[in-house]
Amino acid sequence: MNVLEIKNLKILFRVGDDFVRAVEGVDIHVGEGERVAIVGESGCGKSVTGLACMKLHTTPPAYITADKFEFVSHDGTPHDILAKTENEMLALRAEEMAMIFQDPSTFLNPVMTIGEQLDEVFIYHMHMKPKEARRHSIEMMKKVGIPDPEMRAGQYPHELSGGLKQRILIAMATSLSPRLLIADEPTTALDVTIQAQILQLITERCEKEKMSLLMITHDLGVVREMADRVYVMYCGKIVEEGTVDEILTSPRHPYTKALIDTIPGMEEKVDRFVQIPHNVPHPMNKPAGCYFSNRCAYCTDLCRAKQPPLFDRGNGRKIRCYYEVEELWEK
Ligand SMILES: Nc1ncnc2c1ncn2[C@@H]1O[C@H](COP(=O)(O)OP(=O)(O)O)[C@@H](O)[C@H]1O
Ligand SMILES: [Mg+2]
Repeated sequence: MNVLEIKNLKILFRVGDDFVRAVEGVDIHVGEGERVAIVGESGCGKSVTGLACMKLHTTPPAYITADKFEFVSHDGTPHDILAKTENEMLALRAEEMAMIFQDPSTFLNPVMTIGEQLDEVFIYHMHMKPKEARRHSIEMMKKVGIPDPEMRAGQYPHELSGGLKQRILIAMATSLSPRLLIADEPTTALDVTIQAQILQLITERCEKEKMSLLMITHDLGVVREMADRVYVMYCGKIVEEGTVDEILTSPRHPYTKALIDTIPGMEEKVDRFVQIPHNVPHPMNKPAGCYFSNRCAYCTDLCRAKQPPLFDRGNGRKIRCYYEVEELWEK
């Protein structure tokens, strides 16, 4: 059963008289208890997709359409996210779906103590009295591995390290056991030494609270640690999808191969691929055919002329590449 099912998601941004096509017809689903990753370089449309799930965009400038955008809450009720009002979303957020972001500082109020901010979750959503809320806050801080929680509860965000702040955000996001947790580059801003601990904590929280996870990252190393299934995204389109095992051991799309090449220690396992030259094209300036064609070592005239479809090999394995998928060759 799916917790989230999105079909043909398109996200446009109005910029002056023009539109930026940030997401161009993406299908994503997340099963109950499943850990799914969206991976791709910066600018590929990962964050705007995650934000759309929480309905955190404003129109204008964002224009969002989909053939289906369904989230199923704990009680089995399907919700059409695109049809929800802001008040309806307020009821879903935190209790049913929650998100953590790259930079925890931006989501903590600098003039409120950590304890007060955690208490609010329980006061607002669970209608607890302040004292009871604080007991729950301290309990949550213990669950996310904050040493000396009573002392920390009285501190302000600037008194905590980046890692501790992210732990607090994880506590807030998971304290009401949402059905789906969306984590957008949750360790990218943190010290390398504590990244693994934070990923471990997210995994633990998901298992304990039986949450599904949608992990957004540029790092296939993180995908390897965190996910069961992965969508590789490039320039607003899915270019490859499959289980993490399939993607890491037998990647097919040249873009996926290039991303794998960036994981330290993966060199022996996969045929070495050339470094990806150039940058992700600006969304107003995508190549005419395959969006990866201007960076791809295997690019042909067909690739330059025509956008390849996402070919379905069955069993959830999909690849968008003329070079790799014989069935797509024009004979
Ligand atoms: N408010 C906005 N206005 C215009 N373009 C935007 C806006 N937000 C995002 N974009 C564009 O959408 C594309 C995808 O962005 P994003 O989802 O943040 O990428 P990622 O998370 O994969 O790095 C980018 O090209 C970005 O410039
Ligand atoms: Mg992003």
